[in-house]
Amino acid sequence: MITFLTNTWAQLELPQSESGITELDMGCGKGKFTLALARRYPERLILGNDVMLGRLRRLDRKVERGGLTNMRLLRASSLEMIAFQLPPRCIDRIHLLCPDPWPKDKHEVKRLVCSDFLCRLRRVLKPGGILHMSTDHAPYFDAWLRFVGQLSWFERADGASDDVADIKTDFEELWLSQGKTVQHVNWRLVG
Ligand SMILES: C[S@@+](CC[C@H](N)C(=O)[O-])C[C@H]1O[C@@H](n2cnc3c(N)ncnc32)[C@H](O)[C@@H]1O
Repeated sequence: MITFLTNTWAQLELPQSESGITELDMGCGKGKFTLALARRYPERLILGNDVMLGRLRRLDRKVERGGLTNMRLLRASSLEMIAFQLPPRCIDRIHLLCPDPWPKDKHEVKRLVCSDFLCRLRRVLKPGGILHMSTDHAPYFDAWLRFVGQLSWFERADGASDDVADIKTDFEELWLSQGKTVQHVNWRLVG
């Protein structure tokens, strides 16, 4: 099922998972990672959001065919979703995997990871919650290390996504097949 959050001020009510744990695959795309995560942890609620409806519809059909009852798809823009559409302190782990790097200097302002985004994340992550990020774009990765690393409310949490290190997203698979390197980093919300 796809829940539409675009053009709404409503706050989503999330179902309680068996374990009480909720994870979000932000900008899930075709959703290979989201599906694998939901299969690996049937007792957790797995959310995937994206703005591309066609991708979500195709993914939704796979969710139904696979009989996955612990996965919810959100047609939602990430910034708005974390600002007001998700309940506060509801997510245990956010996966932001291979977000668009906008490599040209003139497009840098379009990058998702900025101070506004990181402030809003504090609202939806549970205390101790994890932000897991990856990219093939070395300058974007270096910017994360500098930028997130200077924030007092995040600390490095190396190993916090080791349990899913074997699951590759569609884009990570593509970059790896082209001989590129995809770097991952994890942060824990501490304040
Ligand atoms: C480069 S793809 C990565 C997809 C997936 N995470 C992967 O690694 O295969 C980036 C995805 O983010 C989505 N996206 C871009 N901006 C977004 C936004 N503001 N809100 C939600 N999704 C967004 C795109 O539609 C696209 O599916």
